[in-house]
Amino acid sequence: MKFLNHLTSFSVAAVAAVGFIAAVPQTGYTAGAGADLEHFSPVRTDRALQRGARTFMNYCQGCHTAEYQRYSRLAEDIGLSEKDMLENMVFTTDANGEQTKVGSLIGTNMSKEYAKTAFGVVPPNLALVSRSRGVDWLYTYMKAFYLDESRPLGANNTVYPNVGMPHVLADLQGWQKPVYHDDGEGHQVLEGYQQVTAGKLSKQEYDATVSDLVSFLDYLGDPNREARHSLGIKVMLFLFLFLALAILLKKEYWKDVPHNS
Ligand code: HEC
Repeated sequence: MKFLNHLTSFSVAAVAAVGFIAAVPQTGYTAGAGADLEHFSPVRTDRALQRGARTFMNYCQGCHTAEYQRYSRLAEDIGLSEKDMLENMVFTTDANGEQTKVGSLIGTNMSKEYAKTAFGVVPPNLALVSRSRGVDWLYTYMKAFYLDESRPLGANNTVYPNVGMPHVLADLQGWQKPVYHDDGEGHQVLEGYQQVTAGKLSKQEYDATVSDLVSFLDYLGDPNREARHSLGIKVMLFLFLFLALAILLKKEYWKDVPHNS
């Protein structure tokens, strides 16, 4: 009986320990996180991801791929039919010059050779960039392009100085210039931006566009997160149920045994 008591105590402790480990949130590693990054919480609704995907296909995919994800899987995940996807978001063509098949990876039409000549570097695959850079970095980066005539493409970026990428959303955001102040110890601190020319969107609308875009990049970097979280909750519920059963079982076994034996 003593053995049984140990056994049930052990299973109670084990269940509690597993539950505890499962409940501790996994903190992500954010590369290059500086002090000045804006905090951003991605939005995982179908509507936000659809808008983000549209911006990606219209403004980013000309240079960048997202080659870990397929159009068909994306359609399914963000609540679009394959027909909608093909009609509205597939702008790439295959080797025969025909529209890319819906089961293909999200590629780009720009050849690596051309990109190298035009930009000096091949624009990276953006499928996992939310993992390597973090969403705060991406959100701040997309709002940090500014007018700089000294750069070959006329644009610079306060988050990624001397970036090789042009300000591709300039028609939406317009052009801005950074405003710095001296912190008294000779360091230039970024205070904000001054709008030089207006874009098609207001500041709020531009922020919302970037929010959807970065939410989409966040989704690309971890498409299974929703499913994993809901499975995690089910596992936790099961563990708690099992804990309750284990406690009841222990009580049942010990109810006839005198306490001082
Ligand atoms: C005209 C081509 C072009 C377009 C269009 C373009 N980019 Fe880029 N992008 C580049 C190049 C080139 C680089 C590499 C810059 C460097 O390393 O200096 C880059 C780099 C980046 C990086 C940094 C990646 C890293 O980890 O270093 C991010 C993030 C990024 N682009 C996001 C976007 C998004 C989002 C869009 C769409 C709104 C977009 N890009 C559209 C050319 C482009």
